[in-house]
Amino acid sequence: MTSTPKAPAARRARANTTAAKPKAAAKPGRHAEPAPPPIDVEAFRQTVITRRSVRRFTDKAIPPAVLDDCLDLALLAPNSSNLQPWAFYKVQSPAKKRALVDACLGQSAAKTAAELIVVVARTDTYLSHAKLNLSSWPKGKIPKIVNDYYAKLVPLMYTQGPLGALGLVKGLGASVVGRFRPMMRGPFSHAEMKVWAVKSTALAAENLMLAFRAHGYDTCPMEGFDEARVARLLKLPDEAHILMVVGAGERAADGIYYPQVRFDRQRFVFTV
Ligand SMILES: Cc1cc2nc3c(=O)[nH]c(=O)nc-3n(C[C@H](O)[C@H](O)[C@H](O)COP(=O)(O)O)c2cc1C
Repeated sequence: MTSTPKAPAARRARANTTAAKPKAAAKPGRHAEPAPPPIDVEAFRQTVITRRSVRRFTDKAIPPAVLDDCLDLALLAPNSSNLQPWAFYKVQSPAKKRALVDACLGQSAAKTAAELIVVVARTDTYLSHAKLNLSSWPKGKIPKIVNDYYAKLVPLMYTQGPLGALGLVKGLGASVVGRFRPMMRGPFSHAEMKVWAVKSTALAAENLMLAFRAHGYDTCPMEGFDEARVARLLKLPDEAHILMVVGAGERAADGIYYPQVRFDRQRFVFTV
């Protein structure tokens, strides 16, 4: 399953979809992106099933092209309003890596990892990323609905104001109007903004770990670390929330400590 990436993942993914023949013509003026050809579900299943949290890695390095491909695949994760509220720090300087292992409480998953990636959710990039969505608009004139969304609605929805005052007002408004019609109930505070950014970033983190697995490498997500120390090490602002440190490398023969345990499906899956 290991392959040497040649083009960025997004470009390759798009190239695959354009190869398929559309089943029905799209309405004139509408963007058409036909369903891609079938993919190998067994390869996907193997990728998911064989991902384990690995606590001990070998000395083998991860080729830079593989590392970057995994990060490119992480960046393709679905995310709220395409505001891409994430950041990934490849910590490669030996001194910083030592400090990060220390901040990860000396865990062997960090100590033995060939690469350490700090996964961060940002609550302060939505305005610049809204503008980027407009300036990166992929084709033709930006539809008015899209322009209004990024130029007006996004700033209104996500700005909480000093001490969260604006969020408070929006929350009160929503609790009144929401009695009469369905509406979004947040984010109305800085704490809810953190949850907002973390949701999308966690999806990207999973993409990242599955991508490593598909390339024949393994990972361990770690939240056992000293957040204040890691934030200082990376010079992160208050609006950067560190989700996890992902250790990655080649699985050592004794890298997995216990067999995987999951509870019965009926505990979690409901049909209503
Ligand atoms: C958010 C998060 C934080 C985690 N933190 C740690 C950690 O600090 N150290 C560690 O060894 N494993 C950590 N893990 C790994 C979990 O212990 C592991 O995913 C779980 O036991 C299930 O095992 P599996 O990943 O092999 O299926 C973490 C996993 C997640 C998702």
